[in-house]
Amino acid sequence: MKPKLVVFTGAGISAESGIKTFRDSDGLWEEYNIIDVATPQAWEKDKALVLDFYNKRRKQVIEAKPNKAHQALVALQKKYDVHIITQNIDDLHERAGSKKVLHLHGEIMKSRSSTDPSLIYKIKGSELKIGDRCERGSQLRPHIVWFGEMVPEMEKAYTIAEKAEIFMVVGTSMVVYPAAGLINYVQRNIPKYLIDPSDVTVGGITNLTVIKEKAGIGLPKLVEELLAL
Ligand code: OAD
Repeated sequence: MKPKLVVFTGAGISAESGIKTFRDSDGLWEEYNIIDVATPQAWEKDKALVLDFYNKRRKQVIEAKPNKAHQALVALQKKYDVHIITQNIDDLHERAGSKKVLHLHGEIMKSRSSTDPSLIYKIKGSELKIGDRCERGSQLRPHIVWFGEMVPEMEKAYTIAEKAEIFMVVGTSMVVYPAAGLINYVQRNIPKYLIDPSDVTVGGITNLTVIKEKAGIGLPKLVEELLAL
């Protein structure tokens, strides 16, 4: 059996693919107000604005390509049972070739019914429009977890994290909960690594190695070391 290696990723891992992070100085939340585009209230108030915001995000994702960090995680699968738990809504982990990817905050390439959350569809093309409906006739919304909504995949993520034999955190500011609390479910004694070019605060975590580098540089190096063990 391959050792279980769990990777928790955030917007930083896709930054070198040209997708903006949220909280860096040129991040998305500098340009947009979260309340206007990423909440159930925004959807109630102005569906066209919310759809337009995510249509723009989707176009960027379609144009982007996986980078060296996504690819390094694919290489790890040779020796490890790699589980990626991502806060990202892009599909760059999958397009790089990672097999086990859990999306905590939804997926930009999918839509879902605004009345029945079990009805989820792949979006054809890049746009979701007013008037696009589910099979029961309700308006489709982006398959995204908005601020103020539950994170349905959290329980699954806790179960995966608890069984990790190696745990990595890559490119996340660790400020959005419950996702950021995942690290507290990881066993104390296992090796943990954090890769981020900025100082990220994670209190009280034992056996943690901090690699203060961009993911495209730090992750391939770490992966090489782990493959050589
Ligand atoms: P943030 O924008 O909060 O944080 C991005 C992190 O990536 C920061 O710590 C940066 O230092 C780091 N970073 C920047 N460039 C990097 C690079 N080249 N390599 C590695 N790291 C780099 O993004 P998240 O933590 O992912 O939620 O944000 C969490 C959630 O907040 C998102 O999933 C999204 C957002 O609002 C929803 O939309 C529900």
